Amino acid sequence: MRIVAISSSPRHDGNSWTLAEAAAKGAREAGHEVETVHLSDFVDGMLDDCRRCRRSDGTCGIGDGYERLLMEHIVPADGLIIATPLHWYGITGRLKTFFDRLFCYTAGSSPVGEQVSAALPGKRVALMISCEESYRGATLAVETQLQELTRYLHQELVGVVVGIGNSRGEVESDPSRPLERAADLGRRLFEVRVTDYRLDTPRSNRIWGPQDATASWSESY
Ligand SMILES: Cc1cc2nc3c(=O)[nH]c(=O)nc-3n(C[C@H](O)[C@H](O)[C@H](O)COP(=O)(O)O)c2cc1C
Repeated sequence: MRIVAISSSPRHDGNSWTLAEAAAKGAREAGHEVETVHLSDFVDGMLDDCRRCRRSDGTCGIGDGYERLLMEHIVPADGLIIATPLHWYGITGRLKTFFDRLFCYTAGSSPVGEQVSAALPGKRVALMISCEESYRGATLAVETQLQELTRYLHQELVGVVVGIGNSRGEVESDPSRPLERAADLGRRLFEVRVTDYRLDTPRSNRIWGPQDATASWSESY
């Protein structure tokens, strides 16, 4: 499988990059083809009013590497590893801009709109967050945003790794071993079981191993 790991920190040798690299290493160990990129190497301009900056042929007029990142790296990928530092209890402005500008490429006026909209669903996504605060609530908004965003795009959020650190690379010293957890998640990106049941979802009482998928919850409990 093809994976792209994207670090959205302005620090190229920081904690988000360290987490992204760890997850990428695990994915490579599992035999996947992985590339790691810095979002700041591609994305500079913020979303603008499309009526003002869209070219007459429908392409985006913001002159940076966004389209190259999207079309050459993200569209062909089967899985995404997204790493972000916590900035004011949210994702970085650049990562938010990445998602904002995706709008321009899924809109009907974009010449690649259909191609992008067809390629986004089905991707497996792992989220890495580096932050200073270990308070559980600090990262909740980011986790919720990525959960909803992936749901909207018909993608699977397979897991989240939070690493605590502040100075560059300090997540390595986090006793909760985020780098090992990141590597494990990268290794299992396409194997992690993601379920989202409703009361009446037919399912076995067994989670692992052979299952009787036809049994209802009340019969099998
Ligand atoms: C603008 C800015 C805002 C930040 N806001 C938070 C925050 O709300 N909560 C937190 O725990 N850490 C916050 N931090 C600290 C970073 O999340 C932390 O240092 C992280 O490990 C940096 O990751 P990086 O090395 O990948 O940039 C902030 C740092 C910056 C520069």
